[in-house]
Amino acid sequence: MRRRWLAGLGIVLLVAVLAVLSFGLWARRPAIAQTAVPAPASFDHATIRQGARLVAAGYCIECHTAAGGQSYAGGYPVPTPFGTIYGSNITPDPTTGIGHWSEPAFVRAMRQGIARDGSHLYPAFPYTHFTRISNGDARAIYAYLMTLPPVRDRVPPPQLPFPLNVRPVMAGWNLLFFHEGRFKPKPDRSAQWNRGAYLAGGLGHCAACHSPRNIFGAENRREAYDGGQSEGWSAPALGRHSPAPLPWTKDELATYLSNGFVPTHGLAMGPMAGVTRQLAKLPPADVRAIATFVASLAPAPSADAAVAAAAAARAAYHVTTATAVAGRGPAKTGAAIFAGACASCHFEGGDQPFYRPVRLGLSSVVNEPDARDFVHIVMAGIQPPSGAAGRWMPPFGVALTDRQITLLAQYVRSHFSGKPGWTGIARAVSDARKEPGS
Ligand code: HEC
Ligand code: HEC
Ligand code: HEC
Repeated sequence: MRRRWLAGLGIVLLVAVLAVLSFGLWARRPAIAQTAVPAPASFDHATIRQGARLVAAGYCIECHTAAGGQSYAGGYPVPTPFGTIYGSNITPDPTTGIGHWSEPAFVRAMRQGIARDGSHLYPAFPYTHFTRISNGDARAIYAYLMTLPPVRDRVPPPQLPFPLNVRPVMAGWNLLFFHEGRFKPKPDRSAQWNRGAYLAGGLGHCAACHSPRNIFGAENRREAYDGGQSEGWSAPALGRHSPAPLPWTKDELATYLSNGFVPTHGLAMGPMAGVTRQLAKLPPADVRAIATFVASLAPAPSADAAVAAAAAARAAYHVTTATAVAGRGPAKTGAAIFAGACASCHFEGGDQPFYRPVRLGLSSVVNEPDARDFVHIVMAGIQPPSGAAGRWMPPFGVALTDRQITLLAQYVRSHFSGKPGWTGIARAVSDARKEPGS
């Protein structure tokens, strides 16, 4: 209670500081004059093709396309802890899109988070990472966007409480938390590593989801890649604190990032599914570069550690359903639900062909400290995007009660992970019930 009160006071004080800073900096940035919508033929093909790859590396389409809407016409609701901000229409429509934006106006938005008219954009648009990209890449993205079919579609205004709905407040936020600047290669690292660091840290903004954030929604740079959250999902730590029982290798990362699945770790789900859908469009050398960079975040496992981890993981998943149904009381109920509802697909033993689900003991979803991803998956199931073939798991949110899901989660955690039990399962279940579609 006392801690909550202190946190509340802290928030009030910090908001006051932010307000003072912002209004000191009130001076709005200058607008950049409108230009005529550039003719698609004014851009050369090589540049447009380069731009097409770069928009995949930054998943622009994922946040700039509403469900069932036209590509890049905006309206996708990006949820933040403060409210919802809608991805803008970034087609070259002159009235509702960015048709009248000159190239310098676009480059400024990517580098500084300032719109053409001089107003501040919210960091739900990851300019905090896009600032690192090269001018050449920013120009290629501009060329690509300007050759898209223009779509006339107005995007709803952000839904934010006062004072956050006053855009100049972001000047204060930027002053405190935004570090503008290009990517600086590390001369002691390989060209492949540097390419990966450039893509992951810039357009790929992996840290935006995989790092913890402070109460102002700014990334904690000292704990970069130590695990964060996105759209109600937890994004596991990628580096030294990775919950994966088998340490990720460079090859596994490359397969996972471009296929969305690897048999030793599982499937990319929730917001990560969109990331891998886009990374699949990159040249394989770029995905390998990202994998090289991500693999370097964790200390290289010593041979002994790798063998021990593999043995522990195997021990964890060598639980047969027969032993699982043993036990008493609630544990027995959880085991019985697993045997009836899950084991037909998530059975143990046998080898591991590519089409079989990951052994649960190897999945970070089961091994991470947060129960939310597990609860999401069990309740909503897994379906490939409509019209596509892919891995499929039925949604159990309708079939199981909250209590059954809780017992099942406790059972799966204790039998497949060997990590301390989850807290907050019931809360995760009730939060997931409030989401549409569960
Ligand atoms: C994580 C979601 C997300 C991703 C990924 C994303 N954007 Fe956005 N973008 C947004 C949001 C949300 C806004 C609106 C911000 C606001 O209203 O302040 C926005 C605004 C913009 C704007 C300003 C448009 C205007 O009319 O003011 C541009 C330009 C833009 N994005 C380009 C891009 C490009 C290019 C990419 C890919 C390299 C990209 N965005 C990727 C969420 C995203
Ligand atoms: C929009 C948020 C978001 C972005 C951006 C994002 N991720 Fe993720 N990522 C997630 C979430 C959420 C999960 C957990 C869901 C799952 O297991 O599929 C995840 C899971 C992963 C996993 C699996 C971890 C494990 O141990 O199972 C890896 C590896 C990963 N992401 C790497 C990356 C890399 C590399 C990038 C940048 C190129 C990236 N992610 C960008 C949200 C994101
Ligand atoms: C019809 C087959 C089927 C059933 C039944 C089923 N699953 Fe799944 N499950 C899948 C598939 C396919 C995936 C996709 C991920 C993969 O292939 O690893 C998956 C993924 C998962 C994951 C995420 C693993 C990862 O990739 O990180 C969890 C956790 C999970 N299931 C738990 C359960 C639980 C608990 C039940 C019972 C309530 C259940 N599943 C029932 C097929 C099934």
